[in-house]
Amino acid sequence: MPKIEEIKIEKFASLGFGLGHLDDGRVVLIKKVLPGDVIEAEVIKTKKNLAFGSVKKIIKPSKDRIKPRCPYFDQCGGCDYQNISYAKQLELKQALVEESLVHNKVEIKAEKIIPGSEKQYFYRNSIRFEFRHTSQGLKIARHNYLDPNRPVVTDFCLLQSEFSNKFFGEVAELYNSLGYRGDDLWQVKIREGQKTGEFMFEIITTTNSLPYKKELIELIKKHPEIKSAFHTVTIEKNIYNLSRRLIFGRPIIYEKIGKFKFQISPESFFQTNSEGAETLYDKIKEFADIKFGDEIIDLFCGTGSIGIYLSTLAKKVTGIEVVPEAVRDAKDNAKINKINNCDFICSDVFKLKISDFKFDNKIIIIDPPRAGLSKDLILWLSTFNFKTLVYVSCNPATFARDLKYFSEKGIIAKKIQPIDMFPQTHHVEIISELVKSS
Ligand SMILES: C[S@@+](CC[C@H](N)C(=O)[O-])C[C@H]1O[C@@H](n2cnc3c(N)ncnc32)[C@H](O)[C@@H]1O
Repeated sequence: MPKIEEIKIEKFASLGFGLGHLDDGRVVLIKKVLPGDVIEAEVIKTKKNLAFGSVKKIIKPSKDRIKPRCPYFDQCGGCDYQNISYAKQLELKQALVEESLVHNKVEIKAEKIIPGSEKQYFYRNSIRFEFRHTSQGLKIARHNYLDPNRPVVTDFCLLQSEFSNKFFGEVAELYNSLGYRGDDLWQVKIREGQKTGEFMFEIITTTNSLPYKKELIELIKKHPEIKSAFHTVTIEKNIYNLSRRLIFGRPIIYEKIGKFKFQISPESFFQTNSEGAETLYDKIKEFADIKFGDEIIDLFCGTGSIGIYLSTLAKKVTGIEVVPEAVRDAKDNAKINKINNCDFICSDVFKLKISDFKFDNKIIIIDPPRAGLSKDLILWLSTFNFKTLVYVSCNPATFARDLKYFSEKGIIAKKIQPIDMFPQTHHVEIISELVKSS
């Protein structure tokens, strides 16, 4: 029998977990709960000093709890803050950033968090769902955070656009109408240019063939918004080992941030909240404080969007990125925007050598993946007399850890700005301006 205990949620921990204690004193982490909730929890996984639980019943709700808009909220792994008012979500994200800084002994206080976009729902420009066979036929489903083997069947998602919701439903209906019962369809994905109205559709199978390909393309053709469609194969259901085939339209779509236009390929990273990206890039611009003649180094540059956004003020921009398709997009993006002071290099930032680059007197922008930087990379950066370093992060834990490493090398944060790019989720973006202490 699973163990059930009454738990008082004391505070938020990282990754959207609420923290309480079991009767035996161990910490228990539970999703979709708020500080102040008293709940009946099922203990689902235990380790030596830690357990994970799930909510069975709310005995006394926190005063900050609200009714989530989404009926799938209790199981779906997409949102974890929908049961909290937006004002409170911002407060929690602020506290999370500040706690990470204190934990890493970074003494500077963060500025007050700002919302990235006006939209608190329907803001995502990229979303992925799975197929699931049900007694009512093939359906679209989302990751179930309690049981990855039983995805949650969803008719819609409040984070994605109305078009994506409708089109995913049409794809499932098409396969039902054709009597499809196979197991080769795995996932569907849409990327969207929110400012251009262009969509890229991707269907992912676990075998080499795409069932009813002709019929699917006919359905795609009925939607002029879809400018690009791919059939992607991954035999082992591994999203890092994909083989893509263009089945309709062009291999890219376009999106705009501010006055700039960007092409996006399926392989390239692009900010998932386009409106939020503009707020983020404006803050980066403010922190970088670019003066006429400055040179900018854009590390982990993706499709070159930050560098291009800042390029009009600079003498030269050099972007470095490891994904070749993203570098190709970045080069094309400079051309599309008629910008000729940007250069993009395909390289692993963690393997750059001191002899290859000189960053003295330059403005360095760093926007790494969630895992953040390494001690070696920070040591290498500290050998330069750069003008300013702007560190952009989507992970408060690695951000604060890296700020600690920077400070050990005499590089100090002057300003830290959290931005909420991802309403209804625990995620938060952070920008900081770092300078060398004299
Ligand atoms: C958070 S994204 C930032 C992209 C871009 N700055 C933007 O705003 O769209 C991180 C980028 O780092 C790239 N990346 C990951 N590991 C890398 C590495 N070792 N060297 C260079 N780039 C890397 C990813 O492909 C991705 O494009």
